[in-house]
Amino acid sequence: MNEARKIRLVVLISGRGSNLQAILDQAASGELPVDIAAVISNRPGVQGLERARRAGVPALELDHKAFSDRPGFEAALVELIDRHQPDLVVLAGFMRVLTPSFTDHYRGRLLNIHPSLLPKFRGLHTHERAIAAGETEHGASIHFVTAELDGGPIIVQARVPVLPGDDPDTLGARVLEQEHRLYPQAIRWFAQGRLGLEGERVRFDGRPLENPLELTDLT
Ligand code: GRF
Repeated sequence: MNEARKIRLVVLISGRGSNLQAILDQAASGELPVDIAAVISNRPGVQGLERARRAGVPALELDHKAFSDRPGFEAALVELIDRHQPDLVVLAGFMRVLTPSFTDHYRGRLLNIHPSLLPKFRGLHTHERAIAAGETEHGASIHFVTAELDGGPIIVQARVPVLPGDDPDTLGARVLEQEHRLYPQAIRWFAQGRLGLEGERVRFDGRPLENPLELTDLT
C-alpha cells in the first residue's frame, strides 16, 4: 500500500452493516489508513452497531423517529457527526433521504454506495428492477453525495453478470461481494489524497475523471 496518513472516518448505517464490516476488517488489518471515529445508526439496535462495538468502535444511535421533522433530525445528526471531526463521512446502507443543507455541509467528503450501475436504477429494489428490465449486467457504484438522490458524481463501479435463473437474492449476493471490495478501495483512494470532488466532477490523481473507474482498475 502507498503511504497514507490516517484519516478520521464516520460511517452512517441503518441495518445489517456488511459494508461497514468490510471497512472495519481492512482498518483492523492495516490495509485501510483510517481511524473509525464513530458508527452512527438512525435505527436503534441494528446488527451494524454490534459489529462496531465488537471492533471497539463507538456505536451511536440517533433515532430519526424521535424528531418531528427531517431538518430537526439532520441538525442533530450533523452535530453528532461533527463532534467526531471526520475527514470523510460514508453512507453504508444508510436509508434516509438527506436534504441539500446536509449534503452541502459535507460536499466533497461524503460518499455513498448504491447497488446498481448508476445512473441506472436509482432508488430502491435495484436487483429486482434490473432482472425485470432484462439486464445482462448489473453491479454497484460508489459516488460523491450531492443533493440529487443517488445522482452525485460516480467514482468507481463493479460489474457482475445477471445469470439465467437469478432472483433478487442471488443477484444481490453477487453484487454485495463486489460492494465489499469497492468501498474500502474508494476510501483508500480518498485517504491517499488521490480522490476529490471538483465542481460537478470527480478528480482522480489530479485529473477530472472522464468515466467512472472500474473494479478492474483496482490495482
Ligand atoms: C447495500 O446493498 C448498499 O449498497 C445499499 O444498502 C445495502 C447495505 O447493506 N445502500 P449492508 O448494511 O452494508 O450489509
